[in-house]
Amino acid sequence: MRISQAKAIELLQHGEVVAIPTETVYGLAADASNEAAIAKIYAAKQRPADNPLIVHIADAGQVNEWTSEFPPLAQRLAQAFWPGPFTLVLPAREEVSAAVRAGEPTIALRVPAHPVALALLNDSGLGLAAPSANKYTQLSPTTAAHVEAGLGKDIPVLDGGACQVGIESTIVSVHGDEWQLLRPGMIDASAIAKVAGKPAMQQTLAHTPKAPGQHLLHYSPRTPCFLFASRQAMLQDARNHAGAAALLFGTGPSVTSKDLVLPDNAALAAEQLYSALHTLDAAGANIILIESPPPEAGWDALRDRLQRAAYAPDPQKD
Ligand code: TXA
Ligand code: MG
Repeated sequence: MRISQAKAIELLQHGEVVAIPTETVYGLAADASNEAAIAKIYAAKQRPADNPLIVHIADAGQVNEWTSEFPPLAQRLAQAFWPGPFTLVLPAREEVSAAVRAGEPTIALRVPAHPVALALLNDSGLGLAAPSANKYTQLSPTTAAHVEAGLGKDIPVLDGGACQVGIESTIVSVHGDEWQLLRPGMIDASAIAKVAGKPAMQQTLAHTPKAPGQHLLHYSPRTPCFLFASRQAMLQDARNHAGAAALLFGTGPSVTSKDLVLPDNAALAAEQLYSALHTLDAAGANIILIESPPPEAGWDALRDRLQRAAYAPDPQKD
């Protein structure tokens, strides 16, 4: 159900959930200070209660309402990357609802760059908890139509067009003057290291937050996906897969009669990635063959999402 911005604000202020556009993916939003509203997010997504939510705020001036510390390193990162596809995990204030942070001592915060999301945050005066607006482990939505296809026609959606970044935000945890990458995104580790003045700390420490999106089976189409190291390997294997569709990057020989080719440019490919997977999922193929994106660092986040999409549980072990 498409709704107006005024209606979205009214619903959010009354503790209801609304799917909202951000520059990364659509989020399923609710008032982050209202436990009953947060419970509705977990129910709609069928998300386990131990997986915490990102709270979206209007600007960095609101960080201290949610955190007990905002170290200079985190301030520099916020200054460099907000508004934008970048989430900071910081020590939470005690009074922040345990529901939104799933009992963690930390809270994840992001200032989104989408004008509709920013207007909602400013006009409602709320912090909005918003995970991606899809069922748990399914593909993230980058259009209002994807949200309705995944969560049903009754879900109120504020339509802000197609998301331009296309994959979820980079998540960084900051502890004192150290930082760690919890989820790769289009703001990559080298850009963060430049602003931080040092590389990410690699060791897992007692205070390292649980790695987010830990589930390997994540961001998955319903059709089984298989990731190939090269186009050549795909071509060799395609003849064993009569009803296959393929997702390819850049020019080269076609692999199936249902190929979908993404640009040879990481930012453009990310923008189109989930739409492409939604399309392939609806194409009636019995398997989706996926070409590994180029090995360069700029493609890390896409590679991460595709590895998760293509994860197949081992029937011997599960
Ligand atoms: O781009 C995005 O980040 C989108 C848009 C809607 O903002 N949101 C999103 O939310 O991807 P979600 O819930 O699908 O993923 C949030 C991730 C989860 O994997 C969760 O484990 C992690 O953030 N997370 C949230 N709070 C955390 C915390 N306190 N410590 C560690 N990880 C946290
Ligand atoms: Mg998600």
